[in-house]
Amino acid sequence: MGDERYRCKHLVLVASPFQGHMTPMLQLGSVLHAKGFSITIVHTKLNSPDPSNHPEFEFLPLFDNFVAIDASTNFTKFVEVLNENCKLQLQQRIQEANHKKITIIYDNTMYSGEEVARNLNVPSIVLRSCSASYMPAFLALPKLHSEGQLPIQDSMLQKLLIPDLYPLRYKDLPFNNTSTQEITEMLALTNPIRNPSAIIWNTMEFLENSALTKLQQYYKIPIFAIGPLNETARCPTTSFLNEDTSCISWLDKQAPRSVVYVSLGSLATMDKKELTEAAWGLANSKQPFLWVVRPGSVNGSEWIEFLPDGFAEEVEGRGLVLKWVPQKQVLAHFAVGGFWSHCGWNSSLESISQGVPMICWPFLGDQYVNSRYLTYVWLVGLELEHLERRVIATAIRRLMVDDEGKEMRKRANDMKEKAKNSLCNGGSSFNSLNNLVEFILADYN
Ligand code: UDX
Repeated sequence: MGDERYRCKHLVLVASPFQGHMTPMLQLGSVLHAKGFSITIVHTKLNSPDPSNHPEFEFLPLFDNFVAIDASTNFTKFVEVLNENCKLQLQQRIQEANHKKITIIYDNTMYSGEEVARNLNVPSIVLRSCSASYMPAFLALPKLHSEGQLPIQDSMLQKLLIPDLYPLRYKDLPFNNTSTQEITEMLALTNPIRNPSAIIWNTMEFLENSALTKLQQYYKIPIFAIGPLNETARCPTTSFLNEDTSCISWLDKQAPRSVVYVSLGSLATMDKKELTEAAWGLANSKQPFLWVVRPGSVNGSEWIEFLPDGFAEEVEGRGLVLKWVPQKQVLAHFAVGGFWSHCGWNSSLESISQGVPMICWPFLGDQYVNSRYLTYVWLVGLELEHLERRVIATAIRRLMVDDEGKEMRKRANDMKEKAKNSLCNGGSSFNSLNNLVEFILADYN
């Protein structure tokens, strides 16, 4: 139940409207509440969490003036306007709540949390929900641009290793063909972790020790690697979309480790041709599959109107296509043997935590770096070279049927054990969380 003496210690968590950021923030809230802190979640109206799922938290909404996150808009601009729209309200809300003493923990995309903390003269800590291995690549972008190595379009050059960033290739870099001008604007906004007193990272030391060491040297403030939060938090759903639980009774009827689960996360989109290739790839693999197609994620359609003729008949009884599922439960199900993923960091951690090997098809940002580490360093995933039906079917068979896949599953299970151990008494994430609690409490004394 945590230490009840801390209940008067109040933490204000400033959450972001992106699913992949909201989830770890709510999980962090749950973990710190279990340690004894009182928790307030400040969130945008856009993509609000459902307070009834978290009766232990106080919720304070901010009017952000957005109706949706449009994947086609400039991400930097969106985040900038979001922070501009929310900053003043955030400060007012916190002042009105009138808690005696607080610490602000903000998502890195809600960086106005840091400025508000400064204005209110209270400590602030940033939560990073991407992989640690991504950051050295991100931080290298200005140098690569100033040396003329970026932007890069040539497909042969894309495959070359980048000096000083082993094992990354140019194709693994985030925003590798974005213009220097755009990158400069983005970095000016997002690169500085302004002036928080510490960083919380949703990762584990055994997995990302080398990146964490580099980041420690770079940021020169305490970094608490306390992940995987998906395993420690006792949270009910954190999804913005309704989770279709009918998939669980369908999975119950499938053979152990026979089903390939497919989900490309909360932001990725595809066009009609890519949807068609994915569909035939799944059909031709002859494996059972559970495929999440998020509404609106296929350009120009509401949901799955563009699925090819004959596909439904071909996969009847063997394939299930749904809008959104309880992913953690799905990955923990005995019938799921592989995960075709976009390699978002939450999905990667959730897959590692369940010992499920992956097929990696990254779409944006840190996902390219995550994919490279999953496939080349941690050896628990296969890189999907092209979104083409034959390549997809072959990758699925390699992962689900061949010895190569069995070896990956063994390594994934090994990682699952290591992840569990890091959360046990004396493990690195366990210790890091306790250190974080002490660090926060030191400010209240
Ligand atoms: C983005 C980035 O790519 C990611 O790396 C970053 O750190 C956070 O935001 P996103 O597309 O949201 O990623 O993917 P991911 O980080 O994997 O988060 C998606 C979440 O949605 C996961 O927690 C997953 O369990 C959940 N999900 C997905 C469901 O609950 N049901 C589904 O059907 C699909």
